[in-house]
Amino acid sequence: MEAFIKIILSCIFVAFLAIRWTNNFDAESLRGAKVLVTGSSKGIGEQMAYHYARFGAKIVITARSKDTLQKVVEKCLSLGAQEAFYIAADMSNESDLDRVVDFALKKLGGLDYLVLNHIGSTRVAMWDGDVEHAKWLMKINFFSYIQMAWKALPSLEKNKGSLVIVSSLAGKMPSPLTAPYVSTKSALNGFFGSLRHELAMKKSNVSISVCTLGLIDTETAMSKVKGKVNMPAYPATEAALNIIITGATRQPELFYPWFTYIWTLTKDWIPSFTDYVVQRSYNYNP
Ligand SMILES: NC(=O)c1ccc[n+]([C@@H]2O[C@H](COP(=O)([O-])OP(=O)(O)OC[C@H]3O[C@@H](n4cnc5c(N)ncnc54)[C@H](OP(=O)(O)O)[C@@H]3O)[C@@H](O)[C@H]2O)c1
Repeated sequence: MEAFIKIILSCIFVAFLAIRWTNNFDAESLRGAKVLVTGSSKGIGEQMAYHYARFGAKIVITARSKDTLQKVVEKCLSLGAQEAFYIAADMSNESDLDRVVDFALKKLGGLDYLVLNHIGSTRVAMWDGDVEHAKWLMKINFFSYIQMAWKALPSLEKNKGSLVIVSSLAGKMPSPLTAPYVSTKSALNGFFGSLRHELAMKKSNVSISVCTLGLIDTETAMSKVKGKVNMPAYPATEAALNIIITGATRQPELFYPWFTYIWTLTKDWIPSFTDYVVQRSYNYNP
């Protein structure tokens, strides 16, 4: 049985590498592309802004902190962005959502990519019954995504564009200590999975890429999980590049690092083993 599982896992790994090496990404396709990236003042979003800039895209970035956004825009221009603008906005504020999309449409003259990446701050701790926090987080991590996606769809449709959703392994495989966060990511996976079907049935031009990430070494993530988890973190710049390539090649899903895909399988194939590993990846002493 053990040998059988090893063979299956090896086959999946080889298939994954084959798919990755034949993803026919053309960097030139991003030259002049009109891109809006949310949550781009730091972390993975900031790294995505720099990659798009190196590819010669036209970018709008957004987050709450104006000063940081200004610095990121300056660096994007120095790296080769054809154009770069920022707009400060709070994704918990409903009126800011349309304002950001309108700003990007006006500044860039339309959109080829809407990359939804921002998240509200949440604790890495046992669920304490704070329903208000869960509602607030759902507003930022989920409802803002669906509102902005809907607002951008006509322009994406016109330009044969792409919606790129930055999700998490937590949305496919619940992890402890982050119940509200897990809920928001599961909601994103469900909603955009459903919308992908609807767009295909309507013969829409728009592709949807949902990106499943494992632990990534951003400052925020590292400070939140410090001393709480035993698992490796992967580089934000590489995660960012993989997300961009997934959107540009119109692939429906990304799993980064690759073995996050294996976890999504083992949770159904060998659930008790997966539960054991997940729970032992966290340091918790009652
Ligand atoms: N890092 C990981 O281990 C990991 C793992 C799996 C998935 N992901 C996903 O990857 C994405 C990026 O994560 P990250 O680690 O790069 O996060 P991060 O470094 O904390 O960056 C979050 C971004 O969102 C912005 N933001 C926060 N609250 C906001 C609000 N209310 N309105 C508007 N913008 C807001 C932040 O800027 P301001 O504070 O200036 O607003 C920042 O630019 C998220 O979707 C996350 O779920 C990350």
